[in-house]
Amino acid sequence: MARLLILYASREGQTARIVERMADIARGRGHAVEIVRCRRFSVPPSPDPFAGVLVGGSIHLGRHERSLERFVAAHHDVLERLPAGFFSVSLSAASPRAEVRAAAQGYVDDFLQETGWHPRVTASFAGALAYTRYGPLKRWFMRRVVARHSDDTDTRRDYEYTDWEAVGCFAAAFLDRLERWPE
Ligand SMILES: Cc1cc2nc3c(=O)[nH]c(=O)nc-3n(C[C@H](O)[C@H](O)[C@H](O)COP(=O)(O)O)c2cc1C
Repeated sequence: MARLLILYASREGQTARIVERMADIARGRGHAVEIVRCRRFSVPPSPDPFAGVLVGGSIHLGRHERSLERFVAAHHDVLERLPAGFFSVSLSAASPRAEVRAAAQGYVDDFLQETGWHPRVTASFAGALAYTRYGPLKRWFMRRVVARHSDDTDTRRDYEYTDWEAVGCFAAAFLDRLERWPE
């Protein structure tokens, strides 16, 4: 059994749901999981006592939360030596257009380039449109952006695009590495 840290940043809750799914999978394989939400002014724990770390966050206006960047920068050396994974959650990853999905992969690449981190596994997951959880201004803004390319504009409901099978595969790939560590 390994002790695993999953650190994430989420605004409307979809990344939190993805994290819960990953944690369920890890617990099902006998591991102890600590989930920590990274907030703007929070001081997350050091990853040092953990056997493995997953870091994930959503995209808002083209970037991940700075709190995640700060966490990776502060613990860069530990994260480089542990089995670790990074995942990103965005609407671009849900697009049927290849160039938009490439932009979602670009968010992952930018984060890793800016932090100089080399996690063993990475992924870009489609998130959700959470109209019912947005305030009026955000709801109006998101509907306007979405209407350019999609019919998912009914703001009385939410739209979830996350491929849960892909989330499961990512978690399994990470746990396989963790369980074989050191490789
Ligand atoms: C104000 C706002 C801005 C967003 N900007 C982007 C963006 O630039 N690119 C993108 O692909 N998705 C963008 N999204 C979509 C979010 O990444 C998506 O809704 C994700 O599921 C949010 O995850 P969270 O609920 O964990 O915060 C945006 C969403 C909101 C509400």
